[in-house]
This record gives sequence, structure tokens and C-alpha cells, in this order.
Amino acid sequence: MELPSTSANPHTTPADIEQGRKLYGGRCAGCHGPTGDGGKGANLAQPQLPRAMDDLSLYRVVRYGIPDTEMPATLLAPREVWQICAFVRSLGRLASSGPTGDARNGESIVRGKGGCLACHSIGTEGGRSGPSLLTVGSRRSPGHLRAKLTDPGADVPENYRWVELTAKDGKKAVGPRLNEDTWSIQLLDGSGRLLSYWKKDLASLKSERKTPMPSYQGKLTTSEINDAVTYLSTLRGIQ
Ligand code: HEC
Ligand code: HEC
Repeated sequence: MELPSTSANPHTTPADIEQGRKLYGGRCAGCHGPTGDGGKGANLAQPQLPRAMDDLSLYRVVRYGIPDTEMPATLLAPREVWQICAFVRSLGRLASSGPTGDARNGESIVRGKGGCLACHSIGTEGGRSGPSLLTVGSRRSPGHLRAKLTDPGADVPENYRWVELTAKDGKKAVGPRLNEDTWSIQLLDGSGRLLSYWKKDLASLKSERKTPMPSYQGKLTTSEINDAVTYLSTLRGIQ
């Protein structure tokens, strides 16, 4: 990894920001939304970015991505990376205060009526068939969280697979895939137990990019969804 020798952004003129906006539009807006707060990526329209507190760490994230996440590296010249960084910081300065629902009510919906903890964990509580929500507020924008609640099938992560299989001895299992290779497959069952099968022992195997998460459109009111999104946005792993 090659990092610039300067730790402060040397390209922050209005012309740089404008150039950064263009580069951002082509390379980042698809995931982070045109104004930084709408896509499946993290919310960038906030004054402080947890993974990019200073300019150099922002440069590193934009240039090299975040390993093991959907945030990719970008092959751009240092000057262009800095221009994008300047634009990203400008989004933070314009930031609205985020979703304005009632976070406390949102928490009781997530833990109660919504039944979210049947599949998701927050800290040590909850189920394991869905991803942990402990840091979801720093990883996903409010717009993405809202879309996930109203139309969960619309944007399922690239490598997520839901597995339904029957073994030759008649036993069935369903759950999210953890690993798969030519000969074997591992999944989690409903109670969060790790199951491992040799493919030669299976009578049928279906593995699809499909989410088991139900839609809450119509099950929760618009204001309840807004409250839940407001609560989820506060889940940043750090209190
Ligand atoms: C394929 C989707 C995708 C693309 C394209 C993408 N990002 Fe990301 N980005 C993400 C995701 C997802 C995260 C959150 C990663 C995590 O921590 O789980 C993220 C995180 C970030 C962060 C860290 C935010 C924080 O809260 O600390 C920054 C900064 C960032 N992206 C900027 C950019 C910029 C600038 C571009 C364009 C050069 C870009 N991203 C392109 C998906 C994307
Ligand atoms: C039947 C199990 C189930 C229930 C109930 C459920 N989810 Fe999910 N959810 C999942 C699974 C599995 C995924 C991962 C696949 C995907 O993204 O669709 C997921 C994904 C998500 C994501 C995206 C997480 C990320 O890291 O990007 C959010 C946010 C989320 N769920 C919130 C909720 C909330 C809030 C509720 C309750 C109102 C809820 N879920 C109820 C199974 C469930």
C-alpha cells in the first residue's frame, strides 16, 4: 500500500471539489447515492466518518477500499483520489441531521413487534441467521436501511446465498450459506448451528441469491419504519 507523504489534503479548491464530484458520480454514487446518504454503502454525508476520521485515512479507504466488505479499491491517480476526498468532506459539511424519527420507539419495534432479533443479533442478544446489526448504522445509509425494511429482496449482497438441501438419508436443512467448495457446503440452521455436508451425500441442493428477510411494508406503519431506521442508524458499535 502506497500512501502520500502529506497527511492533509493538498487538493481542496472549488475546482478540485467539482472534479471530485464528477469522479464520485461515476464511481461511488451507485453505492453511496448522489448526495452520499442514499445507497447501499455507508452514509458519507456526516461530519465524521468512523473509518476515515482524518484525511489520510479517508485517502486510504477511497484508494484501497475496506477489506472483507463491499467497499472496493479504486485505481486512480493520487490527485484524483484527493479530489474525491475533498468532495466527500464537502458532503459531510452539508449533512442534514439524518433520519428524524423516534429512536427509542424504533428500538422497541426492532426488539418487539418487528421480531428482528429472531434472526439478527445486537451484541450478545438475538439470532444468528441474519447479519449482526451492531454496527449497521455506520455501514449502511438510512436510505438503504429503509429500502431493506420495505423491499428486502431488492438488494441482497452479492455473495449471500440461501440454501435448501435434502440429504440422501432424507434429512432436510435450510439456512444461509457460510462456505462452499466443489465437494462440500456449510450452512447455519435455524438455531444458528453450523451444519456441514459432503455434496456427494445430497439428494438435492438449491442455493439462491434470495433473502429470507420478510418485507415490513404494510406490517409496520410509515412512521414505525422511520423510527426503526432512526434507531438502526444509531447502531455504530460504539456508544
Ligand atoms: C460496490 C459498492 C461501493 C462502491 C462502488 C463504493 N463504496 Fe464506499 N463503501 C461501501 C460499503 C458497503 C461501505 C461500508 C463498508 C463496511 O464497513 O462494511 C463503504 C464505506 C466507505 C467509506 C467509509 C465510511 C465510514 O463510515 O467510515 C468511505 C469513506 C467510502 N466508502 C467512500 C467511497 C468512495 C469515495 C467511493 C468511490 C471512489 C466508494 N466508496 C465506492 C460500498 C461501496
Ligand atoms: C427471518 C429472518 C429475518 C428477520 C425476521 C429480519 N431479518 Fe433482516 N435480514 C435477514 C437476513 C438473512 C439478512 C441478510 C441478507 C440480506 O441482506 O437480505 C438480513 C439483512 C438485514 C439488513 C442489512 C444488514 C447489512 O449488514 O447490510 C438489515 C438492516 C436488516 N436485515 C434489518 C432487519 C430489521 C430491522 C428487522 C426487523 C424489523 C429484520 N431485519 C428482520 C433476516 C431477517
